[in-house]
Amino acid sequence: MHLSANDIEDLERRRRAALINSITGFKPANLVGTVDAQGRSNLAIMSSLVHIGSHPPLLALVFRPDNAERHTLDNIRETGSYTINHVHAGIIDAAHQTAARYPGNVSEFAATGLTELWRDGHKAPFVDEAQVRMGMILRDELPLSINGTHMIIGEIVSLEVPGNAINELGALDPAKTDSIAISGLDSYYRSSLLQRMAYAKPDKAPRRL
Ligand SMILES: Cc1cc2nc3c(=O)[nH]c(=O)nc-3n(C[C@H](O)[C@H](O)[C@H](O)COP(=O)(O)O)c2cc1C
Repeated sequence: MHLSANDIEDLERRRRAALINSITGFKPANLVGTVDAQGRSNLAIMSSLVHIGSHPPLLALVFRPDNAERHTLDNIRETGSYTINHVHAGIIDAAHQTAARYPGNVSEFAATGLTELWRDGHKAPFVDEAQVRMGMILRDELPLSINGTHMIIGEIVSLEVPGNAINELGALDPAKTDSIAISGLDSYYRSSLLQRMAYAKPDKAPRRL
């Protein structure tokens, strides 16, 4: 199949969204926990998490345009705090259900059966069932004028990971936490490690670790 820009434009709306939403390949599956100024908690699944830098430890999320109600985005703006929690294979149904448009007075925690976990010093709720949990503070918001989306950049201020999921170099092995990958908006994949590679150098052939 080959599609030109015109062909993509001419695709039926839902088919175009399905294709373009899935064309980047695997994306990480995370639950973003927030709270509003009245203390009402909120949870939403997001796949747009991107690494921005490791020192300081910065991650970005891309939010849909805020012409409709966007509780997570509003709460992050209001409180400056949020959490990012890996989805694992055991909580896919509940995690996916957080994408439903619940009214602001309904917590997706209560609606989906996931458990709020509050940690001293962090304003937003973590997901108790998650194995990898990050406490985030808002550092920057970039409105993307090209399509009305918003990039939220946050700093990791707390991190909880099972010790046995960290390899000898200090990296997280997401297969050990059963963290899953997403394609598009509806397909969830389990991960398994294929091979590890040493740092690439021009004068050395590729070497496996
Ligand atoms: C698999 C999946 C991934 C999603 N990723 C994002 C995302 O990266 N950014 C976004 O704005 N919405 C994303 N959504 C949609 C939000 O989960 C959905 O709009 C949710 O209702 C937002 O809740 P809120 O209004 O409580 O913030 C995704 C939905 C699904 C099913």
